[in-house]
Amino acid sequence: MERPAFGRRPDRAWNDHRMAATEARFRKSAIGRGRFNYISFEESGGKVQIGSRTFVGRSDLICYRSLVIGDDVIMSWGITAVDHDSHSTEWAKRRNDVRDWDKDRKNWEHIAHAPIVVGNKAWVGFNVSILKGVTIGEGAVIGACSVVTRDIPPYSVAVGNPAKVVRSLSALSNANLKVDS
Ligand SMILES: CC(C)(COP(=O)(O)OP(=O)(O)OC[C@H]1O[C@@H](n2cnc3c(N)ncnc32)[C@H](O)[C@@H]1OP(=O)(O)O)[C@@H](O)C(=O)NCCC(=O)NCCS
Repeated sequence: MERPAFGRRPDRAWNDHRMAATEARFRKSAIGRGRFNYISFEESGGKVQIGSRTFVGRSDLICYRSLVIGDDVIMSWGITAVDHDSHSTEWAKRRNDVRDWDKDRKNWEHIAHAPIVVGNKAWVGFNVSILKGVTIGEGAVIGACSVVTRDIPPYSVAVGNPAKVVRSLSALSNANLKVDS
């Protein structure tokens, strides 16, 4: 697949093409169930991995290098997961970004990025944002409209902006359970 020109939202045709490829690659997962999902690669070499029996609602997954979603995960609608900041926090280093988009190029040297991992059996509520470098632990639950900026431990409930752990869940009761056939 060719990546879309950086800085320009791909048109519908591109999305249809990309979703067809995405669905072929992740056919054991339910991605959006025919609704619009936006999976965007900022450059070649990025990886979006979605595990088995996982559901991703109508959401935006924006990848520079790595977004990994595990097995048996429920991702609701309106989620934005971005493994990078898109721009430097220093104006001196982002001052040419808009000009460079027009030339279909981008200098990634000063842009913070780090992989995102959503662990197996996690549940991410609607309109959650997941920022660079975050690992959401196995079985964790993220409350609706949270902004996740730091790792969330396995089997905990985290909510808010920035998301904080408000409660722990039992991991033991899940230990030998599988999805019923
Ligand atoms: C604002 C931003 C650029 C700052 O990045 P950074 O300098 O690496 O910041 P850090 O990750 O070190 O976070 C610093 C603190 O602010 C908090 N924080 C960072 N971004 C936050 C956000 N968007 N909402 C709430 N809290 C936030 C962090 O939890 C951290 O607090 P802590 O130390 O108590 O845990 C980045 O967090 C961000 O929001 N990136 C997304 C940029 C974007 O919108 N890109 C889209 C295309 S333009």
